[in-house]
Amino acid sequence: MSMNLVTLLYLVASVCFIQALKGLSHPTTSIRGNVFGMTGMAIAVLTTAALIVELAGGKAEGMVYVLGGLLVGGAAGAIMARRVEMTKMPELVAFMHSMIGLAAVFIAIAAVAEPWAFQIVAKGQPIPAGNRLELFLGAAIGAITFSGSVIAFGKLSGKYKFRLFQGAPVQFTGQHLLNLVLGLATVGLGLVFMFTENWTAFFAMLALSFALGVLIIIPIGGADMPVVVSMLNSYSGWAAAGIGFSLNNSMLIIAGSLVGSSGAILSYIMCKAMNRSFFNVILGGFGGDAGGSAAAGAKEQRPVKAGSADDAAFVLGNAETVVIVPGYGLAVARAQHAVKELAEKLVHKGITVKYAIHPVAGRMPGHMNVLLAEAEVPYDQVFEMEDINGEFGQADVAIILGANDVVNPAAHTKGSPIYGMPILEAYKAKTVIVNKRSMAAGYAGLDNELFYMDKTMMVFGDAKKVVEDIGKAIE
Ligand code: TAP
Repeated sequence: MSMNLVTLLYLVASVCFIQALKGLSHPTTSIRGNVFGMTGMAIAVLTTAALIVELAGGKAEGMVYVLGGLLVGGAAGAIMARRVEMTKMPELVAFMHSMIGLAAVFIAIAAVAEPWAFQIVAKGQPIPAGNRLELFLGAAIGAITFSGSVIAFGKLSGKYKFRLFQGAPVQFTGQHLLNLVLGLATVGLGLVFMFTENWTAFFAMLALSFALGVLIIIPIGGADMPVVVSMLNSYSGWAAAGIGFSLNNSMLIIAGSLVGSSGAILSYIMCKAMNRSFFNVILGGFGGDAGGSAAAGAKEQRPVKAGSADDAAFVLGNAETVVIVPGYGLAVARAQHAVKELAEKLVHKGITVKYAIHPVAGRMPGHMNVLLAEAEVPYDQVFEMEDINGEFGQADVAIILGANDVVNPAAHTKGSPIYGMPILEAYKAKTVIVNKRSMAAGYAGLDNELFYMDKTMMVFGDAKKVVEDIGKAIE
């Protein structure tokens, strides 16, 4: 296999990745985008596999490693993708990021140990300083990505009792100073490695990077996790690009840079959506007080107005305009098809129906868009936060289905952990119907004043059952 052919195939794969990103920017073209992504990855993996086999001189041992890796990795990925529930996607993504980070660390260690095996230098020659810098950067970012993603995985899953895996931020005095000192020490050790090729400095730098990854993510509270996921996505891309430079692999450089820069842009967009400072996020430890945590589970024993599905149907049936606010609970209940049917019935009665989408509703970017697209909700009924917020004041009914944090007016209160986060202003509608199973707090662990307002009617129960019952009652 000539190097020209390899370069050409890598270029084709890279173009596929760019097309994939372009396609994924809109729901109508997202399937095409995914097909491009899969094609690009297949070309990249098969080209690399063929190259490795060739480099191994066609020896059976080389073939076994390559085929074994493809089979084990491919099978694990396929099984996980088939089994994962939509609501568990962010954890899977965090897990994938951790694997990319770890892969970057392992490749860097291997390349430092035997640089000639990666064709960085001829056997016995020292690694040039430039390559050592690339290896240091790839390994350090990879280590930060790995340990940071492990913490993010734990926080997102909410299943583990371990303190660092709780949604509650872990903060202590001097945390930022410690991060700064560790960061500078990591850079210092990296420079020592760059100039001396000293193994001790390399491993010490790796150990500090693993610690930094943990320290950067633990002070971040539940509601701010979306930004963390996209930030780690960006880090994983840069780690891959760094290693690509060391291995002189153009495809890794291009794909890594695409992931790194698109993740950074997404983080920036998320920061703007959440009204957070981009630099605070990158440096770790932003968000509010330790008070705002999923673990806190703050809820007050105050009376609320509760109604039945029939009551909700009566209110909805008499409205002229209805805004539906979907949230994480809707995804858990898999109620998207039921909601679409309910909306169709309302539209049939001459009622205007709009869906209001908050950028971080659910548990992954675009979660609600994907959910509604799956149920084939017409795109012209779906509105982003900035386009719909002005309309809540005129809406007769806002019906909130399994959403909590994204409609929590506490975001307007100074001192609240979600202070400053833009919300869907459902509280401005003439009547508010809220469906959830209990008075439990949302992901940020905060009580929601909206539930206690005079104009609010709570309809308790699983979203799918409640929405279906409302639909039947409307008929
Ligand atoms: P949440 O604040 O998580 O609230 C969801 C509500 O749904 C809960 O209060 C829960 O109350 C209810 N619920 C759960 N299962 C239900 C079911 N089967 N039927 C009916 N209700 C159900 O959701 P949100 O408003 O969508 O906000 C998302 C939160 O997640 C934000 O804090 C966001 O920052 C964070 N987050 C987002 C992302 C991304 S990228 N979107 C990633 C990580 C974290 P009950 O238990 O009482 O039913």
